[in-house]
Amino acid sequence: MARTMCPPWIGYLLLTPIRRFFHDPVKLLAPYVRPGMTVIEPGPGMGFFTLELARLVGTAGRVVVIDVQPKMLSVLGRRAARAGLAGRIDARLTQPESMGLDDLAGAADFVLAFAMVHEMPDAGRFFAETAAALKPGGTMLLAEPNGHVDEARFARELAAAAAAGLTPVDRPTVRMSQAAVLRK
Ligand SMILES: C[S@@+](CC[C@H](N)C(=O)[O-])C[C@H]1O[C@@H](n2cnc3c(N)ncnc32)[C@H](O)[C@@H]1O
Repeated sequence: MARTMCPPWIGYLLLTPIRRFFHDPVKLLAPYVRPGMTVIEPGPGMGFFTLELARLVGTAGRVVVIDVQPKMLSVLGRRAARAGLAGRIDARLTQPESMGLDDLAGAADFVLAFAMVHEMPDAGRFFAETAAALKPGGTMLLAEPNGHVDEARFARELAAAAAAGLTPVDRPTVRMSQAAVLRK
């Protein structure tokens, strides 16, 4: 199946404040993120959710963002610096085939994968790397846009997640998306 890669101009569009009316970062993330946590956000784009994650983990926590596009990370970094949150964010440029998370094995409390798994070359490998980075009992919020991922494809993603040891425990409502909360 052909993969799409979100171009930087869409990265800017995804930052529009109007998006807060249907993807409110506080409402979506506050149930899962606490001060001091280690959070991983693969495919953060320009950081629509990242700044809120950094606020929620507080000064004792950290947010590791991983993207394949330098432009996404450079804009994210500037926005984080302006918000005074850069010290809590570890931004990593990676290759499409692997997130390179070996140093985070068993370290993450929470992973946010929003509108990005459908861009990965191998969802099975993505979920295996995510599961390896999560602590036992760690949580992942997975959301995929309806425009790219139909119900059947989302079911295949959930099957790949389950094969990696990530069990669906909830199906939250996320506008224009299919979503699941997974637990290791
Ligand atoms: C549609 S954007 C979503 C951005 C953000 N999560 C949001 O909802 O605003 C998808 C992001 O995933 C990134 N991405 C695509 N393939 C990737 C890969 N193999 N590893 C890490 N990030 C990837 C893209 O560069 C882009 O930043």
